[in-house]
Amino acid sequence: MTQPFIWAHRGASSCAPENTLSAFSAAVAAGADGLELDIHLSCDGIPVVIHDETLERTTGGCGFVAEMTAQQLRQLDAGSWFSADFADESIPLLDDVLRTFGGQLRLNLELKELRAGMVVLKLLKQYPSADIVVSSFNCELLQHLRSVNADLPIAVLFELGNWRHAVKVARELSACAFHPALNQVNDAMLAACTEAALPVLVWTVDDLCTARSLIGMGVSGFFTNDPAKLKAAFQSDVSSM
Ligand code: G3P
Ligand code: MG
Repeated sequence: MTQPFIWAHRGASSCAPENTLSAFSAAVAAGADGLELDIHLSCDGIPVVIHDETLERTTGGCGFVAEMTAQQLRQLDAGSWFSADFADESIPLLDDVLRTFGGQLRLNLELKELRAGMVVLKLLKQYPSADIVVSSFNCELLQHLRSVNADLPIAVLFELGNWRHAVKVARELSACAFHPALNQVNDAMLAACTEAALPVLVWTVDDLCTARSLIGMGVSGFFTNDPAKLKAAFQSDVSSM
């Protein structure tokens, strides 16, 4: 049995504040196969790692990420909302993550805004050996990136709308994977992806029964907040065979 690929969703975000260096280190320690991280641009055009376009939920700041400089963003506390133990945590720059983890495991750079695409491609030139996948819900952004880079590993994210259209876009882009939301997965989608030779990796799956059932349906991997749990379960499934 091939083990599923385990993406740590925003790092090991069940045990450390999401999208922080601590969450990414915890994911490495958990044996995750890759780190998923979300990218916005600061107002001075620097790619920063944070999920929301606003600061309130995961930092001590307020307002829009896009209205602050990278220097201002770095001064915010990005950990206390999760636990006082992480009060020293800051919003990482994408550059920090590429430098620290780029040689260790695969990185899934989820682009949350259109204008981040070309900036991230430029930054990636400084990390030619990093094992990366660029993903987005925004098909227009992915199509533009493909038009300027024929070799870039691209994954198409899907949550709402017509999954057949999203799979078609993934085929046209020669995407390396299709990433649907858990509540959207169905047998017809999986059959269409199999026909297109598109591996399907589902988000977000923290429940083992759900993960095992999806493996039975032909899914190749997961995004999980708890990579230690899924890695341990699938390793034990293999060793008990
Ligand atoms: O890339 C999978 C997943 O991260 C997409 O949704 O909202 O968690 O970024 P979200
Ligand atoms: Mg994401």
